[in-house]
Amino acid sequence: FRFLRWTWRITYLSALGGLAYVGYGIYEMRSPPDQPEPDPSKKTLVILGTGWGSVSLLKKLDTENYNVIVVSPRNYFLFTPLLPSCTTGTIEHRSIMEPIRNFLRHKKSAVKYYEAEATKIDYQKKVIYVNDDSEIKGDVSSTEIPFDMLVVGVGAENATFGIPGVRENGLFLKEVGDAQKIRKRIMDCCETATFKDQSAEEVQRLLHMVVVGGGPTGVEFAGELQDFFESDLKKWIPDITENFHVTLVEALPNVLPMFSKQLIDYTEKTFKEETITIRTKTMVKNVTDKYIEAESTGPDGKKKLEKIPYGLLVWATGNALRPVVKDLMQQIPAQKDSRRGLAVNEYLVVKGTENIWAVGDCAIANYAPTAQVAAQEGAFLARLFNQMAKTEEIETELKTLSDKQDKVPNGEQRNAIFADMKELQKRLRRVKQMGPFEYSHQGSLAYIGSEKAVADISWLAGNIASGGTLTYFFWRSAYLSMCFSTRNRILVLLDWTKSKIFGRDVSRE
Ligand code: FAD
Ligand code: NAI
Repeated sequence: FRFLRWTWRITYLSALGGLAYVGYGIYEMRSPPDQPEPDPSKKTLVILGTGWGSVSLLKKLDTENYNVIVVSPRNYFLFTPLLPSCTTGTIEHRSIMEPIRNFLRHKKSAVKYYEAEATKIDYQKKVIYVNDDSEIKGDVSSTEIPFDMLVVGVGAENATFGIPGVRENGLFLKEVGDAQKIRKRIMDCCETATFKDQSAEEVQRLLHMVVVGGGPTGVEFAGELQDFFESDLKKWIPDITENFHVTLVEALPNVLPMFSKQLIDYTEKTFKEETITIRTKTMVKNVTDKYIEAESTGPDGKKKLEKIPYGLLVWATGNALRPVVKDLMQQIPAQKDSRRGLAVNEYLVVKGTENIWAVGDCAIANYAPTAQVAAQEGAFLARLFNQMAKTEEIETELKTLSDKQDKVPNGEQRNAIFADMKELQKRLRRVKQMGPFEYSHQGSLAYIGSEKAVADISWLAGNIASGGTLTYFFWRSAYLSMCFSTRNRILVLLDWTKSKIFGRDVSRE
């Protein structure tokens, strides 16, 4: 009995301690401390973008060392790996957004943020031109910002390869607005298909959901959409059951080319079970408002052009350069051979410049354009900039001591200064010892629908390939732990629970 009483007391006290800890964490988050204003005598470091690369840099950057200015048209960080889940309402979009203002208010020293798009970078004049593209504009909506150091982390835009009709008729999946448009279009197609006197052919077209691009974006979206249909849509709108169909179109012979053969086969098999049609070796050439024209290659190698009617078209064929990046590349002779992004050296310095660095999807450093790479590059730059500031500080101290030493006659005081200088030189050598950027690949994960995921995980010196329901739980816990903040984690967890209990919301906003 005594033992039970003590166990209860310990449990009670631990729970109380845990609650107090969480409570204090929330209080701290909601009560940012006063921040010292930036010191104008310090170098101005301008960071473009609030995506994976830039935010990862800001997270680890000691902002006391620079006048930091952030410019981005998006005043929040977006956790892109869970964006496909927002297209069907499994997760609400605000749960994976983190306001950049909240985050910046917790930095040691104040950081300026401007909600604007960089329209041009003049690398010789060391100036960027920015434009406020938001709906509300003040008297000033475009201006320039001088910089001493610049980090370009503007990401990429959607590739269309100049295929006619894509921009006008297709929907992309890169930003929050894209996911909202898709969610609305899915419901619109379903409601319109059930409109009185709709012809059978038109019903089939409206309920044909076509996804172009068999990379991870296309695959994850197709899986989420089929889940939405199976668990919710067909329950609430039984009339669509016969005709609702998802097709994934891919130009290459298989989907998910970055995964191992075993997982590609597993994904294709799972899609078949889920009744998602995969059309490989099929290249879309033209898009109209009601059908796509695609060229498919048969097993005999013969090419065939066909029209595929659709109600919803999601275009996920990878990345293209943003205009501001293209323009910068054209200004720099050393970039003339680079096609897919800013060529950078092993310290992520944009080749042909001295004070410009690039991270993430807009930089070409021989790695895939993923969040993992962008985040590691951002963290590397933070270490580099912190180290550069420390180096400068030690060098100034050394200079002061050296001047002092010259003025002091030989003797004990001079010897003491000499010893201090030796110590500083040792520290300087240690600080300066920073190797180039090295990417460490942790693995690839993708959700493929019906509570299954695939994972190619780097483990010790080898690789583990796995697919199925267990991998799905791993996928969920990995992405939950990687969410930006505790607030995001709690919101995502609540969304998952909510959609499991009540189903996804089928109202059209
Ligand atoms: P982004 O994160 O795209 O950020 C770019 C920033 O620059 C944005 O804030 C943007 O507003 C801003 N910006 C744009 N233009 C300008 C301008 N002119 N001036 C100033 N700022 C500008 N990768 C993974 O590793 N794992 C995943 O599971 C995964 N899932 C994904 C799912 C989806 C649906 C998508 C679309 C991508 C996914 N990725 C994933 C890829 C990953 O999101 C990108 O590689 C990553 O976002 C790149 O980071 P970034 O910082 O370069 O660019
Ligand atoms: P992607 O570049 O990986 O794949 C695009 C696919 O579209 C390619 O397979 C290509 O062959 C196909 N394609 C191109 N033009 C076509 C056409 N006209 N007709 C038919 N098919 C065509 O693009 P995605 O999926 O948008 O990913 C972009 C980046 O983001 C990648 O680096 C990817 O690794 C990363 N990402 C990673 C995720 C994850 O790890 N789970 C999820 C989403 C994106």
